[in-house]
Amino acid sequence: MQRSIVTKIADLMQVSNDAFLLAAPFESEPLPGQFVMLSFGDGRTDPFLPRPISIFDWEGGMLTLLIRVVGRGTLLMAHQAVGMPVRVTGPLGNSFPDEAGRVFFIGGGIGIAPLYYAAKRSHAKNKAFILGFRSAEESYLTDDYLKVADTHFVSDDGSLGVKLFPHEKLDALVKAGEKPDLVIACGPEKMMAAVHEVAKKHGIRDIHSLESRMGCGIGACLGCRVQMPGASVLVCKEGPVFDGSIFEEKK
Ligand SMILES: Cc1cc2nc3c(=O)[nH]c(=O)nc-3n(C[C@H](O)[C@H](O)[C@H](O)COP(=O)(O)OP(=O)(O)OC[C@H]3O[C@@H](n4cnc5c(N)ncnc54)[C@H](O)[C@@H]3O)c2cc1C
Ligand code: FES
Repeated sequence: MQRSIVTKIADLMQVSNDAFLLAAPFESEPLPGQFVMLSFGDGRTDPFLPRPISIFDWEGGMLTLLIRVVGRGTLLMAHQAVGMPVRVTGPLGNSFPDEAGRVFFIGGGIGIAPLYYAAKRSHAKNKAFILGFRSAEESYLTDDYLKVADTHFVSDDGSLGVKLFPHEKLDALVKAGEKPDLVIACGPEKMMAAVHEVAKKHGIRDIHSLESRMGCGIGACLGCRVQMPGASVLVCKEGPVFDGSIFEEKK
């Protein structure tokens, strides 16, 4: 059930130069792929306006978020401390499908955030991550992901795993006989579009979590509308989870 509550930060942990984990009690159990709107201070003026953040993990009423600092709002989040109040609204949006066969969870950069909880909660018989970072130095939480599923690391410079892009690793695994039934992806739009191309080529169902700037998170402000090749969508209300066909122009 969706709620908007003021809760207190229970833990704050830096995991890389620009990314950190934030944990806070939050009773409503989210579905994998959903997100929350997070705000500090009075929640009315920028940079205090709420920002959308995916569910990284939820266990026994404790919500954990993985956040990368990119601007004023996320910098403000990084400067909070344990015990400080935070407003959490959610869980919001639709969720990833849960399928029984072989599922690959493909993430790039901070796009790995929603995949941890998705894989942890997945009922798939066979699940694996393909996680891409620029370099080993810019990677984070690699051991945590390894505890949830087999993980294929790829990096732009080859310093972590193999020097490939995530879609190239997907292609290589399929060619090696490990074709998944479903691919769930989150990351830069270019990466997701490339993953879609590979999935389509091999006849694999692919699902993606999209990002956009958001105002309200509940379909009221129309601020999150994005024009994708396949459709114009309100990410908060119709998503954030979409079928890969959204990367294809309608004929
Ligand atoms: C459904 C959803 C889930 C998300 N989950 C996470 C998550 O788990 N962890 C996480 O760190 N971030 C996540 N994001 C992105 C996060 O919401 C933005 O990074 C944040 O709102 C930026 O706020 P800011 O004030 O720090 O940056 P701003 O000062 O507002 O912007 C800084 C820079 O980032 C760009 N930018 C801001 N927001 C976005 C965006 N959504 N997409 C592309 N560029 C953007 C701006 O154009 C600008 O160049 C998610 C976004 C959505 C829509
Ligand atoms: S964020 Fe307001 S309509 Fe989507």
